[in-house]
Amino acid sequence: MANLDSVLGCLDLNLDRSVERLSALLRIPSISTDPDYREQCRLAAEFLVGDLSAIGFTASVRETPGHPMVVAHHEGPENAPHVLFYGHYDVQPVDPVSEWKTGPFEPVVESRLDGTRKIVARGSADDKGQLMTFIEACRAFKAETGGLPCRVTIFLEGEEESGSPSLNPFLDANREELSADVALVCDTNMWDRETPAISTGLRGLVGEEVILRAASRDLHSGYYGGAAQNPIHVLSKILAEMRDETGRITIPGFYDDVSEVPDDVKKSWQGLDFSAESFLGDVGLSIPAGEKGRSVLEQTWSRPTAEVNGISGGYTGKGFKTVIAAEAMAKVSFRLVFDQDPDKIRAAFRKFVEDRLPEDCEVEFHPHGGSGAIQLPFDSPLLQKARQALSDEWPKPAVMIGMGGSIPVVGEFKSRLGMESLLIGFGLGDDAIHSPNEKYEMTSFHKGQRSWARVMAAIGEG
Ligand code: BES
Ligand code: MN
Repeated sequence: MANLDSVLGCLDLNLDRSVERLSALLRIPSISTDPDYREQCRLAAEFLVGDLSAIGFTASVRETPGHPMVVAHHEGPENAPHVLFYGHYDVQPVDPVSEWKTGPFEPVVESRLDGTRKIVARGSADDKGQLMTFIEACRAFKAETGGLPCRVTIFLEGEEESGSPSLNPFLDANREELSADVALVCDTNMWDRETPAISTGLRGLVGEEVILRAASRDLHSGYYGGAAQNPIHVLSKILAEMRDETGRITIPGFYDDVSEVPDDVKKSWQGLDFSAESFLGDVGLSIPAGEKGRSVLEQTWSRPTAEVNGISGGYTGKGFKTVIAAEAMAKVSFRLVFDQDPDKIRAAFRKFVEDRLPEDCEVEFHPHGGSGAIQLPFDSPLLQKARQALSDEWPKPAVMIGMGGSIPVVGEFKSRLGMESLLIGFGLGDDAIHSPNEKYEMTSFHKGQRSWARVMAAIGEG
């Protein structure tokens, strides 16, 4: 198709300029979870509105009680499908900042000896680089053809990394405006650097903060030690009891709504060239720590987990202090699969803790978001088109994969707007999202743009 070829050529010619635009966005420290960065989140939203307006979208910053959303519209050819593109402009905190080799918000392009290049900055892969792949594809279409091959709405969130507190009310209040034939979500990974992927499953997530209180004040650990309850011991014992020696979660009812992966899906996973050794080896590990008797792909894609994400209490400063703390705190999250209900799992966890609480202790819980697992259709016509378009761009044909992470908006698109999603992303397993020295491959950025041009063209063909 002549049009598509010229759009792809335009993306090739303008790669450097697209990296500059991405870099400008990466310089804005839009950390959504930290109130100190509130203004920066707004700046990122305004930047994107400016950029989308420049390409001819009708774009606006939309207020919420939290960080603003970005919504932008562009018409398409008559009767062409309408797609909603979703991404998030907020990023994770950068700590531990001392581990970064370059400033987290000072993006740099680094070349390797083999000639490959990467863009290093917080948010480069999650999700600013990814969302810009789509915007760059739109920009090239406009430049080369004067229009877009389908009707496009772009919806960018600024609270994805902090539990999306404003998302559901916003979707409900703007249902008409945000409803489209399909949502395109660019926040996932490829299978490997040569093989693009469409993710058809996502795990759900429940977050809980637990504060366990014992004595009415911090105590001298010699004067009271032996007699006084130590909340750090109580809490860590309860948390440790959540998993047995086989890696199974012991919370009563936890597995009630967990099914086995259907045989055809299992078979398709077995066809993937996956090495548990290198998956773990890449991060300095060698022994799968999940449920015994399950493959690592099962452990991360189709089995639920209970993880302690953070724990604190007592004296952790310099030197030493002989103290029995008055309280201990932990942040715990559960990855959910199949029909596990976030509310039910939360309640089961709370009961598990309360049932083990000594009578003279108290516990307090704070919820941090909850979303169910997602299973997307395996065989929709749109998915087949996208799969072909991706296969045309990359060295190897596209595969369908599961995903251990969570993207709660996908479930809300389905339940609130009746809209299915297509999860296409160009991240790689070693991008270090949420970690120091996060990077996005230049090939991900460049071929990601080209991929969206192809996918949009394929969807537009009808
Ligand atoms: N982009 C990630 C999801 C992801 C993880 C994709 C791993 C590919 C590989 C997303 O931004 C994310 O981190 N989501 C959070 C959800 C949460 C904070 C509600 C997650 O999965 O922890
Ligand atoms: Mn993300």
